[in-house]
Amino acid sequence: MKKDIEEVLLTKQQLAQKTKELGAEISKDYEGKNLLLISLLKGGVVFTADLMREITIPLDIDFMAVSSYGDLSSSSGIIKIVKDLNEDVRDKNLLIVEDIIDSGLTLKFVKNLLEERGAKSVKICTILDKPDRRKVEVDIDYLGFKIKDVFVVGYGLDYANRYRNLPFVGILKESVYKM
Ligand code: IMP
Ligand code: MG
Repeated sequence: MKKDIEEVLLTKQQLAQKTKELGAEISKDYEGKNLLLISLLKGGVVFTADLMREITIPLDIDFMAVSSYGDLSSSSGIIKIVKDLNEDVRDKNLLIVEDIIDSGLTLKFVKNLLEERGAKSVKICTILDKPDRRKVEVDIDYLGFKIKDVFVVGYGLDYANRYRNLPFVGILKESVYKM
């Protein structure tokens, strides 16, 4: 897998340090409140697993999988729920945990949906953000790293369902997807 990586953008150590900082901030902000992490499958799962262990207050966790129609590099904005939550979100403080925000369409859809279902609050935590590609505005409450407009894999992020298990975030070589 490593031979397909052009450049390592974020090392395992950088990701761990930032996750620790975010966990501390979240623990402080949600002290004394109920907290339900909404992990977005599949990409968000690696970050969620690390982040939840850096949060020191009680929490619950649930999972949701959504997919957007369109090709690999641009989403259409039509989002489909592939796997819905098990938990009732009414009156709960939700924190959506995502791998990357690109166009923003996925997060906008998920956030609106959870608000409509009666959540008390809905906030967003993402390890990566590609602000140059934004199509709709989304407020990011907890952000790991802003990155330039490049296609990255690892730390949960995939290309054609591969590379999610790389412990770092790296730029995928163009030769892998331009064939
Ligand atoms: P958005 O709706 O365009 O914000 O879509 C975000 C989703 O697109 C993420 O959850 C990822 O699954 C995927 N995505 C966006 N950029 C990348 C990337 O550089 N590598 C891998 N997946 C990406
Ligand atoms: Mg995703």
